[in-house]
Order: sequence, then C-alpha cells, then structure tokens
Amino acid sequence: MGLRFEVHAATEGGGRRGTLHLPHGMVETPVFMPVGTAASVKAVPQGMLETLGADGRGAEIILANTYHLYLRPGHDLIARLGGVHKFMSWDRPMLTDSGGFQVFSLAALRKISPDGVEFRSHLDGSKHFFSPEHSMDVQIALGADIAMAFDECTEHPATHERTQSSMALTHAWAERSLRHFRENAHRVPWFAERGGQRQNLYGIVQGGMYKDLRTESTARLLEMRDAEGTGFDGYAIGGLAVGEPREVTREIIAHTLELLPKDKPRYVMGVGYPDEIVEYARMGVDQMDCVLPTRAARHALLFTSEGRLNIRGKKFAEDSGPVDPDCACSTCLRYSRAYLRHLFHTGEPLAATLASVHNLQFYLDAMRRVRAELHGQGD
Ligand code: GUN
Ligand code: ZN
Repeated sequence: MGLRFEVHAATEGGGRRGTLHLPHGMVETPVFMPVGTAASVKAVPQGMLETLGADGRGAEIILANTYHLYLRPGHDLIARLGGVHKFMSWDRPMLTDSGGFQVFSLAALRKISPDGVEFRSHLDGSKHFFSPEHSMDVQIALGADIAMAFDECTEHPATHERTQSSMALTHAWAERSLRHFRENAHRVPWFAERGGQRQNLYGIVQGGMYKDLRTESTARLLEMRDAEGTGFDGYAIGGLAVGEPREVTREIIAHTLELLPKDKPRYVMGVGYPDEIVEYARMGVDQMDCVLPTRAARHALLFTSEGRLNIRGKKFAEDSGPVDPDCACSTCLRYSRAYLRHLFHTGEPLAATLASVHNLQFYLDAMRRVRAELHGQGD
C-alpha cells in the first residue's frame, strides 16, 4: 500500500490543503517540519514540540539527518532500540534526509564516484562510504515515516554542463535508491508493529538554476519505478537556498511545481524565512523544512509579527513586554524581553530553549494561517 495523500482544497494560485497519512499519524499540509538533526530539535524537549502553536497541536512531523545519526550513535544501535521514534520518544511522523546534502556540506575530503561518495567524518576524520544502497539501509534502520533518495545537491553557482552531470548522477542514484529501498522496506524496525505499513520514499529533483534541467529531472524521476512498477511516494525539490537570489528560488519552484503530479506530496528542502514559506505554501508546496527558526533563536534572533529582533539589544534591557504581543507561545505568555536578553547575556542554556520555542511557534502559526486561508478559498 502506497502513501495516502488527500488533497482537500486547491486554489487557482496552486496552493492546496491536504492530509498525509503516515505510519505514525496524520499530518495536515502545507506543513513546516522543524529540524532535529541528531534526533533532537536543538534545545527543545519533545513534550514542548508536542504542544507548540496557538492551537496547541504541536509539530506534526519533524526531520532528522541520516549522516549525523549514522556517525553517532550509529543506525544499528538505533535499530536495536526499536528505531528513531522509540529512541527519542517521539511517536509522531518523522522524515530523514538521505545524507547526501550533509556529506557535501559537512564532511571533509569527499571522493565522488558513480558508486557513491567516500568522505571523512567532520567529528574525528574517520573514513566512510555512502552509496544510495547504504543510505537506504541506514534510513530503513532509523525507521522514519519518510526517507529521501540519495542525491547530490549541486553547488551554486555552477555551469549548465556541471549542473547537468551532477543531475545525471542524482538520477542514477535515485533509481538505485528506489529499487533498494522497496526491496528492503520490510526491515524497518516497526514493520510488524504497524501492521505491515511501509516506509515512504521521496525522489529529489535537481537541476540547479536551469529550467530545462529541472524539466528533465522531474520527467526522469516521474518515470522511475521499483520492481513492482511503483514510483516514488512523493517528490522533493532540492538544490535550492544555496546562495541564489530569492526570485530565482521562487521561479524554479514555480516551474517545477507545474510539472509535478497534483496527487503526490511536494516538498521543498531547506527553506526559508517566514514570508518565504508562506509564499511557497500558497504556490502549492506541501512540505518544507529549515534550520532557520532554531538556529536564529540560538543566535538571539527572533521572528515576530513586528519583524525580526535581536533580543540582545540594549533597548530591551528594561522591556517588560513579551517577545511578540501577538504570540501565545509558552515563552511569550510567561517571560519578558528583558529576561530573555538577560539569559542571552549571561549565556544561560534556557535562552536557547525559550527563543527556539517562540520561533518555532511563529513558523507553525504562519503555516496554520495559510492552511485556514487555503481551506476557505478552495471550498
Ligand atoms: N536539504 C536542502 N537541500 C537539499 C538537497 O538538495 N538535497 C538533500 N538531500 N537535502 C537537502
Ligand atoms: Zn512567542
């Protein structure tokens, strides 16, 4: 049985409201997925993730990274403990990125061949090898609800020729990812416990900033099939937010969305600022993830209804008001700007938690409003 994705309402602008039915529960889309790189959304305990948002429904799905969990504590260890859900006590949907992107951005001395990529760990310099098959084995052992094909995120800027050969590698790896994943999907730690439901696999469209290559990449991924004739469960648009201007990101997304099937979820990887995720959701993107809300929070940068503010600023020293008067997060309900500023200045770990909770709530609330808006329009 494949992934069940219901589209409830679609607008003329392309935006749509939907529900993803995953082994660990349902996800209302469009959705923002907080990033939990090493099986932890940095500084935020699982219980707080579960109650985020003005509606208190919390994050419905979070992301973790194959590269990090493979290196520490190791996917076999996590599998022995029942999979990443049990390991981190998170009983809601999860997605794992395939490791490709992280190998390219973090690991040292990468040697890429058609077979895969050899690299040295950014932690201790030890040597490792990732192939599409290995990435699938690791993701199956981790057991997220959604796994990603192993790809190469083309650097930016890159020539047409370079982007084309990088994309060709991604296509070959996508085909191998799909076959290997489906042949081994029954090995997922929760297979029996969840009534034989299987993990889902998304393909990743590459092609850099070239529309002709994006067209080709989408077409190639759409025709890929496993041994039983089943394609990918959803499609991601990768290779964006790598330093290109924002209009280019938007154009590539718009161009690719036109070519993707309407009945499958579409995920744009690694975006963006609050206004960007709202814009992309209105265009028809169903899933997005970004480290921005949590990373910015740890650097004292807060997103509010009145714009961005750096809470370290002197002007907040005696400000007894909340971070955002329009926010009902647990931070804004209880603490003042003056207190948050103090926590950052003294290096208290609580600063990261309170700021991350606020920023994540800001992102989740923004998406909830888009869902409400899309619901109204499509009915
Ligand atoms: N995260 C952000 N961009 C990408 C991408 O192009 N590929 C993968 N695997 N992850 C990403
Ligand atoms: Zn708040």
